[in-house]
Amino acid sequence: MADTQFPNIVRVDAHAKVMGAPIYAADMRSEGQLHAVFAVATVAKGKISEIDVSAARALARVKMVVTHEDVQGLKPAGFLLGGGYAFQSLNPLASEVIAHRGQPIAMVVAETLEVALHARTLIRVVYEKEPFAASISSSGTNTIAQAESPLPQQLFADTVAGDAVTALASAVEVVDASFYSPPQHQNPIELVATVATWEDDKLIIHEGTQNAGAIKFGVAQSLGIPPENVTVISPHAGGGFGQKNSMQMQTTLVAWAARQLGASVKMVVPRAQLFTNASFRPESRHRVRLGADKDGRITSALYDVDAQSSRHDLFPLDYTSAAARLYGIPNFKGFQRIVQTDVQTPGYMRAPYEHFASFALDTAVDEMAARFERDPVEYRLSLDTDKDPVSGLPLSSRFLNECLTRGAQRFGWSSRNPKPGSMKAENGDLIGMGVGCGCYKAATAAAVATLKMSRDGDVTVSVGVHEMGQGIRTALANAVARKLGIDPAKVDAVIGDTRGAPQHLTAGSWGTATAVPAAEQAAEKLLVELGPNPQSAIAKQGLDSYEVRIERRAPGQPAQLAEALHSGRPAPWGPIYREFISYSYIAHFVEVRVEPTTRRIRVARVVSVADCGRVISPRTAESQVKGGVVWGIGAALREATEVDPRYGGFLNTDIAEYIVPVNADIGRTEVEFIDRPDPLINSTGIKGLGEVVMTGVAAAIANAVWHATGRRLRTLPIRVEDVLA
Ligand code: MOS
Repeated sequence: MADTQFPNIVRVDAHAKVMGAPIYAADMRSEGQLHAVFAVATVAKGKISEIDVSAARALARVKMVVTHEDVQGLKPAGFLLGGGYAFQSLNPLASEVIAHRGQPIAMVVAETLEVALHARTLIRVVYEKEPFAASISSSGTNTIAQAESPLPQQLFADTVAGDAVTALASAVEVVDASFYSPPQHQNPIELVATVATWEDDKLIIHEGTQNAGAIKFGVAQSLGIPPENVTVISPHAGGGFGQKNSMQMQTTLVAWAARQLGASVKMVVPRAQLFTNASFRPESRHRVRLGADKDGRITSALYDVDAQSSRHDLFPLDYTSAAARLYGIPNFKGFQRIVQTDVQTPGYMRAPYEHFASFALDTAVDEMAARFERDPVEYRLSLDTDKDPVSGLPLSSRFLNECLTRGAQRFGWSSRNPKPGSMKAENGDLIGMGVGCGCYKAATAAAVATLKMSRDGDVTVSVGVHEMGQGIRTALANAVARKLGIDPAKVDAVIGDTRGAPQHLTAGSWGTATAVPAAEQAAEKLLVELGPNPQSAIAKQGLDSYEVRIERRAPGQPAQLAEALHSGRPAPWGPIYREFISYSYIAHFVEVRVEPTTRRIRVARVVSVADCGRVISPRTAESQVKGGVVWGIGAALREATEVDPRYGGFLNTDIAEYIVPVNADIGRTEVEFIDRPDPLINSTGIKGLGEVVMTGVAAAIANAVWHATGRRLRTLPIRVEDVLA
């Protein structure tokens, strides 16, 4: 176990990023490269009865215009959550059926992007429209209890502990609260993009992704070629957040077009199309019932969730497992229903379930604290648990109370007057102080790592993980350099690249906990084989370089499940290990200011304290927390994708109208880590950070808004009109 803190090195790719080095997929240019665009459906559901692309085809410098009538012989890549490789099972240009507004109906490839865009305007389509359901409140949805769905119950059963219904009936105090989340869309800076190039029968794909392995095997399956003929290169993704977790709508078609045309083809999916041709956070409604005994102890929780999926896939729900584990509530009952609507399949978006589950649960807990006139921090401290409330298994580590205590101190919580509306700033703003907590599973995935040291001491490490800006390259350099006693600048990581170690999906906050212990193990193997000074051993033996390889599984992970790694399929394990359970935790303290006349809400400052096990890269970890806080502010006060039930699809499909926080919305954010290694999950003691950081933020903000205004608000985002006096 790593018994000392890791040094705080600078981000290893900072210089390349600041200088605008060509590190992203769409930066790949070549002589004769062609540009592809999709034309998309302008109806919410139905069929194409006629499509005329002749004028588009006739345009000079247009190389290809294809519709479902032209694309032949491509096999489905399958849905990621059904043993396949793509974010949804729907295959573009596969038939005349329109499943959702914005679905691709044609692809144009031309010598320039401008020509392709112009040609697209010349396509004429006649649709046969059908009735549709645009949202979970529309008529014509199909609602399925997850427990009765075909989804594998060993993974997706509703969380149940004890007998919550009976316990609630005998509660002295009950909080019964309903919540609503609109659909929301990831808007990473890097747009989804594919560049496909063939060298004879070998295909090279550049695509910013969290899952180069899935693209390799999925494209091979779709095109009917051997996977070893496909190379996927994704050294950097400019933000992933779950949207880039698998094959995209365009990936196979761009590769297919490049083969047909004998040229490199590039498609950059424009931002507006990301709202309908990539995954998103589904619309959902929630009900939380908490029951407490006469001493205020919460004895039961019932948690019901309805969340949106598409008509063609069941995107599984997992809101209840984290909600059941935030506090020591002995009786818990989750009930989740999937509501099928006519959209593309939703998916994972940072803390996909845990963001809203922590919002619902922890604002209800805050309300219960107020019922008993208890201090919100002291009340939460009293809800701690030393074992998993669901299974009774030991927790590998849990420092949530330390997060609360450290955070309260740093924030100055003791200056808070408990009475809502009682605190005013000098300028007359109402001050609200709120606390919110969250937890997120600590999973890890199977991994292969290779490590090569050259004669001049340069080290190349390759492991299955992707850099999406979170700082994994920096973490790898820091960990490997520390093990080998060398300068981090000597360490290069080949990641997101199928020419190196097998590339596994990087998601679920398991990236660092998977890649770093594997890389460290490889470094240890080098030291065992070559002694404490490997570089001089290499020179002494007259070698050019020396390479080691290790394979790793999560604790207790069956070998057969880990095998999925070698075919581009997910191979994660946890948070329920055989003998223990692992979660990361966080506590956020928020001060809001509500302007008395306009009632504008601002987040003046945030203090966040995280328990993610051992911190490997302090600088990028701090940045992760700040990013999670910013996104939490966005989720709580800004972000909503608007739907007009008469038309379907999504309305505000750009970042002018899909409102995200800007710098002026963000006050001071202070970050602290408990930084105590988890003794069980892996040799380095890492639990994971990327998603827990966003949990609890919205609760802290809503609880602060209540403290400022006396309003309990349960629909996000909270807007000025919700707090008008
Ligand atoms: Mo993450 S939303 O699991 O990529």
